[in-house]
Amino acid sequence: MFKIRFFLIGAFTTLTVNAQLEKNEFVSGEIWKDTNGTHINAHGGGFLFYKNTYYWFGEHKIAGSQGNSAMVGVGVYASKDLYHWENKGIASAVTEDKNSLIQKGCIIERPKVIYNKHTDKFVMWFHHELKGQGYEAALTGVAIADTITGPYTYLKSFRVHPKVLPQNFSEAQFLKAKPINNRKDENWKQKVIDGAYFVRDFEEGQMSRDMTLFVDDDDVAYHITASEENQTLLISKLSDDYLSLTHEYIRVFPGGRNEAPAIFKKDGKYYMFSSGLTGWSPNPAKLAVSDKMMGDWTYLGNPCKGSEKEKNTTFWSQSTYVLPVQGKKEAFIFMADRWQPKNPIDGRYVWLPVQFKKEIPFLEWFDSWDLSFFDN
Ligand code: GAL
Repeated sequence: MFKIRFFLIGAFTTLTVNAQLEKNEFVSGEIWKDTNGTHINAHGGGFLFYKNTYYWFGEHKIAGSQGNSAMVGVGVYASKDLYHWENKGIASAVTEDKNSLIQKGCIIERPKVIYNKHTDKFVMWFHHELKGQGYEAALTGVAIADTITGPYTYLKSFRVHPKVLPQNFSEAQFLKAKPINNRKDENWKQKVIDGAYFVRDFEEGQMSRDMTLFVDDDDVAYHITASEENQTLLISKLSDDYLSLTHEYIRVFPGGRNEAPAIFKKDGKYYMFSSGLTGWSPNPAKLAVSDKMMGDWTYLGNPCKGSEKEKNTTFWSQSTYVLPVQGKKEAFIFMADRWQPKNPIDGRYVWLPVQFKKEIPFLEWFDSWDLSFFDN
């Protein structure tokens, strides 16, 4: 009897795990198990398709409030079909070395990896904050590897574009703008738009927080980041080796308060999902379009359709990436995080198909869906 019961429990456990893995469906907000049966731990994710495999890089979180900082590093998972994810370990680890900028307890967020065909290297960029300094440092960081799953060698972190003017901000505008530090300043918003934080940080370099990368069809790569106290986005062209920023960059939506940028390209147009600024709590998403990465970007409004609650919270999530599905025409997945700041390891993933009405992208909730959605 004892033996039978034991056998039954065993069989049941195996069945549940297998059912999860074999469902071949995306059920946003649920626990997503890897092929070992463990909740996938790759938050603020970035994706790269390489040699017939998708790779998912993300923040490896731990339980408890400490989990919001980098106690382990950046994890990586691999999948052939986007449903079954194999844990490939830690691609880029934090260190115990107290002299290192990437010491345990610093903040590493939104890692994104791109492959450089010319150098045959994998390059990871991430939002980096220094240990014990909250979000003050506002740096972007770079690491490099010979193999996609790592280990990545940390190269540097920095403020962006010190002493360089963007292409769409003239010297006359620069000379007119007055630095401010105080939000209570009269006409604060207008002053931000006019470049108050920009000139404040001109010598030291501009702040860089929520970020993403985008590689265009011509292999030119771009770094997109929330700057100027998260009030303004900066889009910068990367160098040919993808390891640094060129001086070519623009300010986008000054004073527009955009975070969590995620970019995709369809029919020659560039689209950007972003969020507003409410920390770990969700807020309404925004969508913008441009004919060129380097501007001019135009808002298209909130891309979410559904109830007021769904629209106001982006289905309780914040964007991180838009993945083009391989082998399907015009198939894009909007990928987002449902943060759990009190227990970050329990953060969930929201993936929804990007739909189009009269060429304008929109999102709606599905309790579950699969890739056959794109066959219609
Ligand atoms: C969010 C941001 C996250 C993280 C968080 C910290 O707005 O998108 O990546 O930085 O704030 O509060």
